[in-house]
Amino acid sequence: MRPLTAHIDLDALRHNYRQARRYAPDARAMAVLKANAYGHGSLACAHALADRASAMAVACLEEGQALRNSGIQCPIVLLEGFFELGELDTVITDGYWSVLHTRWQVEALLDRLERWPQHRVTVLVKCDSGMHRLGFAPEEVGEICRLLRSHPGVEQTLLMTHFATADTPDSPLLTSQLDTITTLQRQLDLPGCFANSPATLSVPASRHDWVRPGVMLYGVNPLEPDHALHGEIDQALKPVMTLESRIIAVRELAAGEPIGYGARHVTRHPTRVGVVACGYGDGYDRHAREGTPILVDGQRAAIAGRVSMDMLTVDITGIPDADIGSRVTLWGRDVSGAVLNVSEVAQWCDTIAYTLLTGILPRVPRQYHQVGAPDALSDDPLPDAGATGTPS
Ligand SMILES: Cc1ncc(COP(=O)(O)O)c(C=O)c1O
Repeated sequence: MRPLTAHIDLDALRHNYRQARRYAPDARAMAVLKANAYGHGSLACAHALADRASAMAVACLEEGQALRNSGIQCPIVLLEGFFELGELDTVITDGYWSVLHTRWQVEALLDRLERWPQHRVTVLVKCDSGMHRLGFAPEEVGEICRLLRSHPGVEQTLLMTHFATADTPDSPLLTSQLDTITTLQRQLDLPGCFANSPATLSVPASRHDWVRPGVMLYGVNPLEPDHALHGEIDQALKPVMTLESRIIAVRELAAGEPIGYGARHVTRHPTRVGVVACGYGDGYDRHAREGTPILVDGQRAAIAGRVSMDMLTVDITGIPDADIGSRVTLWGRDVSGAVLNVSEVAQWCDTIAYTLLTGILPRVPRQYHQVGAPDALSDDPLPDAGATGTPS
């Protein structure tokens, strides 16, 4: 078999969820599992969290149905709501929690609820507090919420917003978004759901009734490196995905020899090059620059030459024991315990960890690891798995 595998540590995922609860102890946490759980495999991740997550959040009904059909029972939130009328009957009758961000969604939902008098729904009204992506203008939110709360088919209304700069220390935009949404929440007296990962970890005033951690669950530190809490969060989170492969060939090159497509790298001195079974056809970023870090048998080495579709090349001159069969960690935790952070690799690719993780293609087999069986962990002191919130 081709040696490339994405190892998924489900104990680390559970640990990271627990960290979200530890940082926001008075809030319930909906685990964001959209985009195939940020590339980690949504079903395995959902089931690993099923005994503790108060809710799970996905991007669309199809992602939600995949979880429901696999036996997930906690509330499932559709972060962009429904996209067309054809989804509404399922949203209502199967009890999905829908975000509402436009008037047509509100009108369509209230209209369709007439067909289903025996069903009551939970909705999240999204306020655009300043990010200017989805949501109602703050001055519209009161009217929308009153409309929904007065309808007998609406059981619970949450107030929601999303922050644009929660990862950045002292962001004026974050302060302004927080002011806007907390003022609204006070006026409307609704449960609030505002905080993504960086806000969950570093902005206590954003936590309220629900938090929505995503990338932190997968062990990625969501704070900018100059954030005062960055070091603490690095210690608190554990990487979930380890992308691992092997060296499949070794070249001994003299000085002045090119490596790979475009001859981007030309050796300056005699160089040993390892060829690794992993490329952009697997989702590894082709933008990886010369010097992008990589672990070979747990030791740091550097990419030399362009990433090609199924392979990449690494300078192993400084690791004389490395040879065909040597273990290569593209990111994550090597079996020796050495860690190469996906965020560090992302910087070398001029991107962010989110794109690297979500970019790993189905061609790469995921292998799931879970040492702590759910039963062994069921003495977890966190109280509220499966809680459904307080009706408004
Ligand atoms: C609406 C919404 N909530 C929460 C999240 C989770 O954000 P993060 O992964 O930064 O925690 C996202 C992610 O994009 C989102 O779009």
